[in-house]
Amino acid sequence: MILIKGVLLFILVAKSCSSDVSEVVTCSNIVPVNHRTDKICIIDFGGVGDGKTLNTNAFKEAIYKIRQLSEREGGATLYIPPGVYLTESFNLTSHMTLYLAAGAVIKATQNSYNWPLIAPLPSYGRGRERPGGRYMSFIHGDGLQDVVITGENGTIDGQGDEWWNMWRNKTLQFTRPGLVEFVNSKDIIITNVTFKDSPFWNIHPVYCSNIVVRFVTILAPHDSPNTDGVDPDSSSNVCIEDSYVSSGDDIVAVKSGWDEYGISYGRPSSNITIRRVNGSSAFAGIAVGSEASGGVENVLAEHINLYNMGIGIHIKTNIGRGGYIRNITLSNIYIENARTGIKISGSVGDHPDDKYDHNALPIVKGIRIENVWGVKVLQAGLIQGIRNSPFTDICLSDINLRGTNETKSRTPSWKCSDVSGVARQVSPWPCSELISNHSGSCADYTNAFR
Ligand SMILES: *[C@@H]1O[C@H](CO)[C@@H](O)[C@H](O)[C@H]1NC(C)=O
Ligand SMILES: *[C@@H]1O[C@H](CO)[C@@H](O)[C@H](O)[C@H]1NC(C)=O
Ligand SMILES: *[C@@H]1O[C@H](CO)[C@@H](O)[C@H](O)[C@H]1NC(C)=O
Ligand SMILES: *[C@@H]1O[C@H](CO)[C@@H](O)[C@H](O)[C@H]1NC(C)=O
Ligand SMILES: *[C@@H]1O[C@H](CO)[C@@H](O)[C@H](O)[C@H]1NC(C)=O
Ligand SMILES: *[C@@H]1O[C@H](CO)[C@@H](O)[C@H](O)[C@H]1NC(C)=O
Ligand SMILES: *[C@@H]1O[C@H](CO)[C@@H](O)[C@H](O)[C@H]1NC(C)=O
Ligand SMILES: *[C@@H]1O[C@H](CO)[C@@H](O)[C@H](O)[C@H]1NC(C)=O
Ligand SMILES: *[C@@H]1O[C@H](CO)[C@@H](O)[C@H](O)[C@H]1NC(C)=O
Repeated sequence: MILIKGVLLFILVAKSCSSDVSEVVTCSNIVPVNHRTDKICIIDFGGVGDGKTLNTNAFKEAIYKIRQLSEREGGATLYIPPGVYLTESFNLTSHMTLYLAAGAVIKATQNSYNWPLIAPLPSYGRGRERPGGRYMSFIHGDGLQDVVITGENGTIDGQGDEWWNMWRNKTLQFTRPGLVEFVNSKDIIITNVTFKDSPFWNIHPVYCSNIVVRFVTILAPHDSPNTDGVDPDSSSNVCIEDSYVSSGDDIVAVKSGWDEYGISYGRPSSNITIRRVNGSSAFAGIAVGSEASGGVENVLAEHINLYNMGIGIHIKTNIGRGGYIRNITLSNIYIENARTGIKISGSVGDHPDDKYDHNALPIVKGIRIENVWGVKVLQAGLIQGIRNSPFTDICLSDINLRGTNETKSRTPSWKCSDVSGVARQVSPWPCSELISNHSGSCADYTNAFR
């Protein structure tokens, strides 16, 4: 009898394990994987992986070749074998796969003097850091579709330290280049690559749709300025999964343009999924904003592990931003060692110029934060709405944020203003502005307001 029970138990366990494996929840199927018929190698275009030879022409010619080949079915793969390929920035083309073998490194030159400049994004009106144009991202795609950047965990190295120093010593002429940027593009997959030392934001899809970022590692020193991990910007249907980011700024920040420029461009970010992402940074883990003037909605972030953070979850906007931040769900978040656990704030970030509209108040509505576990969190939460545009339908549920033993005398606490909503099973108990409600879930609560 015991034996039979044992066998039964074994079968049950084995069955539940196998079904777990086959049922990994993923959004990565929003972009179909195309099998390329042709494959070319950077070496055949004069590529030299010695870390010294400049490979700009090799990349240019190889990608030109793909542009010709892609008129045929399936496009082509550009294979980068092991080695260090130094190059200036370059443009990708549609229907291509950039494949980095194990040990392949595509390394950016540090020559800012020759770095190409491109027009500012219309939704920002100017470069993000400096007025006027901006340096083109190291790897760039404009108006493309069906592009894959993948491989066996090869590295795209931005060698950002010269740029960080120019930022620090205030000698930057224009806004620093990102590592990889796609503009007006769709059906993009970025998987199984490592991004290292980006001069600025790492992965920046802007005015894009159907973007998958999965199995990537993003590394930059914690003191490197503005090295955000992934910034979906005025983009829809973005899937970010199974990745690790340790950088000098937000791990993921969903954006949609800056003040009056973002408002008039009016391109929201929507349908953004962030799942099974881990990371570490002195800034935020999962962020929305602060540039959110085109609106941000339908964001889901779940199963996130954050270590040694400034702020775990940060929803941020400002007067003059306009737009909206709504239907944002964050759940199953683990935070270890952070200055602040959860922050929702209406006075974050600077303005592009003084022409912004002081009456352009953002709307923040329908934010659900559930199942958050934090340890060594100095301040539990801060929710600071805008007086003439209070944050509404905020729901906090099953949240436990603990301090460190050293600060036992000062248990982490909440501070709120200009906010309404509910809280259930939140420890320490948040502010009186949030009504205690022990029945239903955040989903019931926020759905009731549609
Ligand atoms: C690369 O793309 C940018 C933006 O579309 C464009 O301004 C630039 O001329 C392109 N560079 C080359 C070498 O094609
Ligand atoms: C990929 O490489 C990075 C950097 O070396 C490393 O941290 C990461 O663990 C690697 N990922 C895998 C899946 O091997
Ligand atoms: C600023 O930093 C850059 C990059 O390291 C360096 O080339 C430049 O000489 C520095 N300028 C000043 C004024 O310190
Ligand atoms: C990408 O990385 C994941 C996780 O490490 C691995 O399971 C998968 O096989 C990799 N894909 C390729 C094409 O190497
Ligand atoms: C994230 O952390 C969890 C918990 O430690 C771990 O199981 C998972 O493999 C990590 N994932 C990534 C992508 O680093
Ligand atoms: C967002 O997702 C919903 C549901 O899957 C879909 O109906 C909608 O069209 C998507 N929005 C955009 C902008 O693609
Ligand atoms: C709210 O966002 C979720 C994703 O978190 C999405 O599934 C749902 O359809 C959205 N609700 C509405 C009313 O758009
Ligand atoms: C606090 O101290 C207790 C007992 O000494 C220990 O078990 C626990 O891990 C400590 N917690 C933190 C967050 O350091
Ligand atoms: C508590 O939640 C339930 C279910 O979502 C809802 O019907 C009820 O109105 C809420 N009560 C308050 C005081 O918000």
